[in-house]
Amino acid sequence: MMKKSILCLAAAVCTVSLAACGGNSATETTAAPTTAAEAADTTTAAEAENTEDNSAQAEDTESAEETQAEAGSEGGTLVMATNAEFPPYEYHDSAVTGPDGSDIVGIDVEIAAAIAEKMGKELVIEDVQFASIIPEILSGKADFGAAGMTVTEDRLVNVDFSDTYATAVQSIIVTADSEITGPDDLEGKLIGVQEGTTGDLYSTDDFGDDMVERYLKGVDAVQALLQGKVDVVIIDNEPAKVFVSENEGLKLLDAAYAEEEYAIAVKKGNTELLDQINSAIAELKESGKLDEITAKYITAE
Ligand code: ARG
Repeated sequence: MMKKSILCLAAAVCTVSLAACGGNSATETTAAPTTAAEAADTTTAAEAENTEDNSAQAEDTESAEETQAEAGSEGGTLVMATNAEFPPYEYHDSAVTGPDGSDIVGIDVEIAAAIAEKMGKELVIEDVQFASIIPEILSGKADFGAAGMTVTEDRLVNVDFSDTYATAVQSIIVTADSEITGPDDLEGKLIGVQEGTTGDLYSTDDFGDDMVERYLKGVDAVQALLQGKVDVVIIDNEPAKVFVSENEGLKLLDAAYAEEEYAIAVKKGNTELLDQINSAIAELKESGKLDEITAKYITAE
């Protein structure tokens, strides 16, 4: 949008400058007026007469070339859909500026920034509800989803996944005084989850719809647990650790509920992007950069 208007403006000024200095017929034919230039016509011509024709021309040529270079295959944006309620993979931190200029940071954000850099594109982050990430990819609003997203058979019907870049487990959070000690005690308990996540899908499968309370954010499920509205929260281990450390009166059970792997999702059949993502992930793994990023956000215990 921005680039387009710069180009139009440059073309318009260029045309009127030539007209003002009464350029020869050859240059006039080369400078084919665009619709925007035509629209600029006589009203700006008077102003153009007062400008330094030569320098204006030189500048215009330069900016048009720049615009063309930027619009080439290397430029453009790469849109990542995520749900920035999932520390340390993606979350808001008002104290910092993330790679897209927003306050969204985390492991996935850094991986995505590295992919965008390798592709010569500008990273744009769309922060949506977790359950909207795959629809965003399918509609073409986002190029890919990076959200600590677990590879599952069901999701593979709609999207393709990159090579995996992390392993995770679904953890169980309970209140400090809870008698629940592991997955075997979950029967008959009210389970809080983030809507659309594997914690939601697995516990709905195992214990039935009635036993699962869905929240838009994991942190809301944790609040519900603190308020006694649910008996446990099932969520990925890394955000679980963060939420437990940030709230008194909670504990994380040692026994995991499920094991899984994270990958980046693209629209089914978008092999061109998938290949580029996979080669970026491979590079990040080989260079040790992935470990570095992970270590920055997750302190080994
Ligand atoms: N790993 C889980 C899943 O794929 C949870 C991911 C939640 N991610 C998020 N950014 N909120 O369903």
